[in-house]
Amino acid sequence: MELKNDLLLRAANGEKVERTPVWLMRQAGRILPEYREVRSKMGGFIELVKSPEFACEVTIQPVDILGVDAAIIFSDILVIPEAMGLPYQMVESKGPWFENTVKNVHDIENLRVADPKEDLNYVLEAIRLTKKELNGRVPLLGFAGAPWTIFSYMIEGHGSKTFSKAKKFFYTQPQAAHQLLEKITLSTINYLKAQILAGADLVQIFDSWAGILSPDQYREFSLPYISKICDAITEVPVTVFAKGAYFVREDLGKLNCRTIGLDWNMDVRESRNLIGAEKTLQGNLDPCILYADYKTIEKETKKMLASFGPSKHIANLGHGVYPDIDPDKVKCFINTVKEYRF
Ligand code: CP3
Repeated sequence: MELKNDLLLRAANGEKVERTPVWLMRQAGRILPEYREVRSKMGGFIELVKSPEFACEVTIQPVDILGVDAAIIFSDILVIPEAMGLPYQMVESKGPWFENTVKNVHDIENLRVADPKEDLNYVLEAIRLTKKELNGRVPLLGFAGAPWTIFSYMIEGHGSKTFSKAKKFFYTQPQAAHQLLEKITLSTINYLKAQILAGADLVQIFDSWAGILSPDQYREFSLPYISKICDAITEVPVTVFAKGAYFVREDLGKLNCRTIGLDWNMDVRESRNLIGAEKTLQGNLDPCILYADYKTIEKETKKMLASFGPSKHIANLGHGVYPDIDPDKVKCFINTVKEYRF
């Protein structure tokens, strides 16, 4: 299927674009009242994720309502631990919670490498349906968590400020840590390849807890596994978003991927110098700027666009949009990008 709007793919590939493409991390779900309406009809978040028809509906909502240049499939990074044998729950206003966690080598041996056709067919079905419904309007993005971020949930069992339990595992059971990271990596490669086969036009790897690690820890426990995934995915462009990983930007620049996501702590010019001229950059407006008045949002968005320049940039926030941001403010951000010309 030919895409009618392929700006994002062309930008990812470093090609010339008429204007900068724009989408938002966490655009599906967090902010739209239309999402809450669909969700309230379902039992809960996980039921929604596992219902391809409804997942498809909420994936397309931001394309219709906000006018973004890409859809991202409605799912979660935590479907991987579940597919490997650790089911999760989403506790209202608290977040993810795992009944069982990984404590030792024995627990790791009991986990399986995810077989997407078997364990994650609901996501693949949602992708197939969404591709059909989108009918080529915009590209569809697939995604997965980076192995370190998934590992940290599998050890901790929930979110954490420090992830010290997960890091403790490095020092008390280093071999087991690598064994688990390897198993997650293989599952993730299978999963992303299946998403691509189902129709994903680009895939993004979210390393949400990258910033918790030191540079050496990052180079030992995160980067090699992301690198392995990037090397394995040759079918579509890959984006790596390592939140808070300002300290390894040169290393990120050497990954076999097309796009590097920047958070708002990362200076654009400095990032470009460290990452190099070749890659596309994605980001990086502070999501909190969307709490400001319209004039400020326009001014800050234009400043951001100017700092990245006319090519090799995909406009986005520096992290997911916050749940209490007014959709009209989000539209202001999107329209400012779409109207901007260099
Ligand atoms: O980007 C999108 O809109 C697509 C869907 C998507 C969700 N989660 C849906 C979701 C994506 C890409 C994710 C990724 C995700 N999930 C990450 C990485 C991105 C990031 O923000 O750093 C992480 C760390 C998670 C784990 C997770 N899932 C947490 C911590 C929570 C609870 C708090 C929160 O973020 O809302 C979730 C739940 C979740 N995932 C919701 C949605 C729409 C809210 C569920 C609800 O409706 O109650």
